[in-house]
Amino acid sequence: MPETAGKIRIAVIPGDGIGKEVIPEACKVIEAAARAGGRAAEMVSFDWGADRYLADGVTLPADAPEMFRREFDAILLGAMGDPRVPSNQHAADILLGLRAKLDLYANVRPCILLDKKYTPLAGRSETDIRFTVIRENTEGLYVGVGGFFKKGTADEVALQEEVNTRKGVERVIRFACEFARRNGLKKLCMSDKSNALTFGHDLWQRVYHELRPEYPDIAFSHLYVDTLVMQMVRDPSQFEVIVTCNLFGDIASDLGAQLAGGLGLAGSGNIHPGSVSLFEPVHGSAPNIAGRGIANPVGSVLTSAMMLAHLGWDRESRWLDAAVRASLREGKTTPDLGGSMGTKELGDWLARHVAGHS
Ligand SMILES: NC(=O)c1ccc[n+]([C@@H]2O[C@H](COP(=O)([O-])OP(=O)(O)OC[C@H]3O[C@@H](n4cnc5c(N)ncnc54)[C@H](O)[C@@H]3O)[C@@H](O)[C@H]2O)c1
Repeated sequence: MPETAGKIRIAVIPGDGIGKEVIPEACKVIEAAARAGGRAAEMVSFDWGADRYLADGVTLPADAPEMFRREFDAILLGAMGDPRVPSNQHAADILLGLRAKLDLYANVRPCILLDKKYTPLAGRSETDIRFTVIRENTEGLYVGVGGFFKKGTADEVALQEEVNTRKGVERVIRFACEFARRNGLKKLCMSDKSNALTFGHDLWQRVYHELRPEYPDIAFSHLYVDTLVMQMVRDPSQFEVIVTCNLFGDIASDLGAQLAGGLGLAGSGNIHPGSVSLFEPVHGSAPNIAGRGIANPVGSVLTSAMMLAHLGWDRESRWLDAAVRASLREGKTTPDLGGSMGTKELGDWLARHVAGHS
């Protein structure tokens, strides 16, 4: 974990659509926490996204990853995606580019219900939905290895390869074990589909069984991914940490986000331990509501709380978390959660709540 006691320097990439609305609110809340804690958070904004791409073709400058490593403690990103760029080229270059070039191999997605009225599961409360999905973030089916044969004909073949490396599988399972230990958690479920994916997920099985003896304090379990998602709905209270591959983690964490109140509340971190890491809300750029000032900023504020905790600002992180809990309890919400507040109005409310700690 970086040593950033007094001052942190954050690279801010609001991106597209509602990213440009929610990220300024998150920055406002971070600034309030820094002031309340007598610390300094310097935030430097980068205008990369669809507007910039359409204006001059720039997506992710070649020196950006190294510059982030050298000059920043963390990166806060909003969302990428714009209907004017159907190829999504800029999003792929910026978001996937940073994940790959900074080798952000662990995607951490907390699925923690902050107020029971926001879960779609009947009879479930805050104590039942408190787990974190750790998704392998650099390999699997998302590496873009594949191709077409006879494309556009009746005989077309499309191949998409899943890549699992010994190093990649081991480091993400180990990350999940260390994450559990660091957070005082005891239960870790590894999920794969080794009954059907008999090569790649056989590797997951072997690595999982090899690592288990190193963590005698952790109660391990294994579920095939189809059973995992059924169990997440049937009894989410059985999970504390779930670790799985890129594709399954993508899907399971969105299900988990929904169980914990929906996309508007979900935050995530793309982590490479000991190096600059990237934090982003789980939601996309939501073109259907962009520009209307009604996007929920809470996902970005909880993402910022994760970032601050990662940088060692535990107290400030807890203030952000407490402000969000208070807003949900008091029904201070945007329309996606049934409230009537605007993005900026809620951001101001959260910043005032955080400032109340000074
Ligand atoms: N990490 C990312 O940057 C990321 C993630 C997902 C999607 N995308 C991109 O975003 C664009 C839109 O994708 P999508 O519509 O599938 O997903 P989305 O997350 O943008 O929106 C899905 C639905 O949830 C709502 N929603 C999302 N976030 C919200 C918030 N903070 N407050 C209130 N409502 C919210 C939207 O209005 C929409 O109805 C696409 O270009 C996609 O590629 C980017």
